[in-house]
Amino acid sequence: MPVNIILGLQWGDEGKGKIVDLMSENADYVVRYHGGNNAGHTVVLGDKKFFFRLIPSGIFHTRPCGIIANGTVVDLDVLTNEINILEAEGINLTDKLVISPRCHLILPYHKELDAAYEKARGKEGLGTTKRGIGPAYADKVSYNGIRMYELLDWKLFTEKFTFQAKIKNKILKTFNIKPLNITKELEKIKKLRGKIIKFVKDAYCITQTAIDEEKNILLEGAHGIMLDTDWSPYPFSTASNTIVGEANIGAGVPFNSIKRIIGIVKAFTSRVGGGPLPTELNNASSKAIREKGAEYGTTTGRPRRIGWLDLEAVKFSCRINSVTEIVITKLDILSGLKEIKICTGYKLKDAVVPYSSCGYKELAKVKPIYKTFAGWEEDISYIRNYNDLPAKCKEYLKFISEFLNVKISIASVGAERNANVYMN
Ligand code: GDP
Ligand code: IMO
Ligand code: MG
Repeated sequence: MPVNIILGLQWGDEGKGKIVDLMSENADYVVRYHGGNNAGHTVVLGDKKFFFRLIPSGIFHTRPCGIIANGTVVDLDVLTNEINILEAEGINLTDKLVISPRCHLILPYHKELDAAYEKARGKEGLGTTKRGIGPAYADKVSYNGIRMYELLDWKLFTEKFTFQAKIKNKILKTFNIKPLNITKELEKIKKLRGKIIKFVKDAYCITQTAIDEEKNILLEGAHGIMLDTDWSPYPFSTASNTIVGEANIGAGVPFNSIKRIIGIVKAFTSRVGGGPLPTELNNASSKAIREKGAEYGTTTGRPRRIGWLDLEAVKFSCRINSVTEIVITKLDILSGLKEIKICTGYKLKDAVVPYSSCGYKELAKVKPIYKTFAGWEEDISYIRNYNDLPAKCKEYLKFISEFLNVKISIASVGAERNANVYMN
């Protein structure tokens, strides 16, 4: 059955957008199924760069229709902006974009609350994107959320929004934050609604029919497994589950219909925001990697924290998701380093401890066990055949694949769609 999924196996920003775009040519549907505009997925086409926050990254191909499925939380402002950018590129989204009525909305008070909590935490701040993600999901599970469904009925939406906004204004007051002007916010939302509601259709029926007809569906994961709300060192997490099971919840796709589970692994580690990062570096190598790899947040512009590849964490990600293959990205960024390290396990005091048994306090203290590799000098960004890769680079890839016991299908050596070395 032709349903495949792409997941980030680290802390996000692995290069999922590039690979989703690459694999979307033959897809009938590309589906975002969780998270919101805390995601920033980059697609580079010629000299143009596009950042997808909500619309699936495969939309540039002629064939696929993009679906924003029920697990996603939607900021109408951001979505409208994204639609406008694509329309300005000449893409007619009329039959190319579907939004589930079950998607919850990120509303203005969610963003205010996200920022207010971060400010109140002070030095203990989590480093969220302040896009209102946590508060929107919190409202969802506490029956206080408002969905696309309500937006279809303006009177109903106005009642629900007013009820919620009045309560949220009281909470904002306790943070000493100016209350929202409910009438003005409603006016803004009404304008955005006009642009969005024509795309709201029964996404579930569309995907089920597609599965029955054996059409190709590509599921686009966001964030990374190390940010999963249950399986990360909470609270240094995001608010949705990021593991493969979320596709069942967030898009209604039966789990046994998924054939290829493609894990995206950056050749090193990056993370934005707070929380432990066992292999983090603060030296010349990390600076070189950050600058060469342009490791600055797609959504917030923050410098990404950099470390060596952490295979203890990635091994956990492969296992919990039953990953069938991996794609290594940004391999080109490692060219020119004298030596490169890979973390193969963690030590806490004298004991070897697995990722899964560590909370955030332990993860902040673990000492990575490293295997050191000699680096390679050559620029590999022009290489397209495996045999042409430097021997030391092949050794690096071979070790990763053998350690994880998962095949590498592609090594990505540049941001452009065609900058790939196919491994078989
Ligand atoms: P995502 O959130 O997983 O989609 O990743 P981001 O788009 O946030 O960050 C990945 C960055 O790396 C983007 O700027 C991509 O254009 C870029 N990129 C992706 N793959 C490669 C690669 O193999 N080499 C290089 N040099 N850049 C890449
Ligand atoms: P993509 O899909 C990198 C991180 C934030 C923060 C934490 C919680 O582009 O890989 P949130 O706003 O979600 O409440 O913030 O999660 N985070 C990401 N980091 N890439 C992402 O998405 C992220 N989505 C959330 O930086 O540390
Ligand atoms: Mg990103």
